[in-house]
Amino acid sequence: MQTESTPFSGAATEDDTSRSTGSRGDFPSSVLAGRRVLISAGPTHEPIDPVRFLGNRSSGKMGFALAAEAAARGADTFLVSGPVSLQTPRGVTRTDVTTALEMRDAIQARAARADLIIMAAAVADFRPLIVSQSKIKKEQGIPRIELTANPDILASLPAIAPGALRVGFAAETEASEAEAYAKLERKGAHFLVWNDVSQRGIGFGADDNDVTVYSNGRAPVRIDRRPKEDVASLLLDLFGEALQSFGTDIARAAY
Ligand code: PMT
Repeated sequence: MQTESTPFSGAATEDDTSRSTGSRGDFPSSVLAGRRVLISAGPTHEPIDPVRFLGNRSSGKMGFALAAEAAARGADTFLVSGPVSLQTPRGVTRTDVTTALEMRDAIQARAARADLIIMAAAVADFRPLIVSQSKIKKEQGIPRIELTANPDILASLPAIAPGALRVGFAAETEASEAEAYAKLERKGAHFLVWNDVSQRGIGFGADDNDVTVYSNGRAPVRIDRRPKEDVASLLLDLFGEALQSFGTDIARAAY
C-alpha cells in the first residue's frame, strides 16, 4: 500500500586518478538550497501470499541519511521509502510504498520535477507472477513460485527526467570496475555509487558504508568507511558540484 504525508512541493569532484575524500563540509552546501531532490530508500517487498513476501536486507539507513542531509542543505526533499522502521528526517516529505511497482509509480510521478534523483533503494528485481489471495498451506506441499521481472525504475528515468542529475547505487559482492561502468551505461545514470556488500560492517543494515563513485569522464571517487551520515554528506558535495556545473537543460542532457 502507498501512503503519503505531504506532496512534493515546488521546488563531484575528481582528479585524473581515483581520489579518496577525507573531510566533510569542504564544498559550499548551499548549492542544494531550493533544489528539488527525490530519493528512494529501503527494500521493496513483493507479496507471495497475504503473509509472505520476497524481500532483501536494506534498512533504509543510506537513503534516509541522504534525505536528512539534502533537507539540511535547504533542498526541497522528497523521500520514497520501502518498508523500514526509521523516522522521517526533519524537513523531508515522505511517501511509503511496499512493492517495486508502487515505488516506480511514486518515483515516476515526481521525477520530471526533480533536479537530482538518487535511487538508494534496493528494488527487488523479481516478483511472484501470481500472488495467492489466501495463505499457501504447507500441507499442500512445497510451492513452485514463478517469478516475473520488475521494471527497472532507474533505467526508465532518462526518458522521464532527462534534465535531472540521476544517481544509482549498486550493491555487489565483488568489485569490478568494468561492471560498474557497464551498469552506469545500462541505467542511464550520471553517477553510480558502488558498495561491496560482501564486506562486514558496511552496506545492508549497517551504520557505516564504504563506496566508490563512478561517472563517465571522471576518475572514480573513493569514500572510505565511515558513518552513512558522513558518506551522505560527501556524496551530496559531489552531486551538488555536478548540479552547479549542469547549468541549462541542454548542458544537463549532454552531461
Ligand atoms: O538501506 P541500507 O541498509 O542502508 O543499505 C544501503 C544499500 C546497500 C541498500 C544501498 O547502499 C544500495 O546499494 N542500494 C542499491 C541496491 C541495489 O538494488 O542495487 P542494484 O545493483 O540491484 O540496482 C542498481 C540501481 O538500480 C539502484 O540504484 C536501484 O535502486 C536501481 N533499481 C534496481 C532494480 C530495479 N528494478 N529498479 C531500479 O531502479
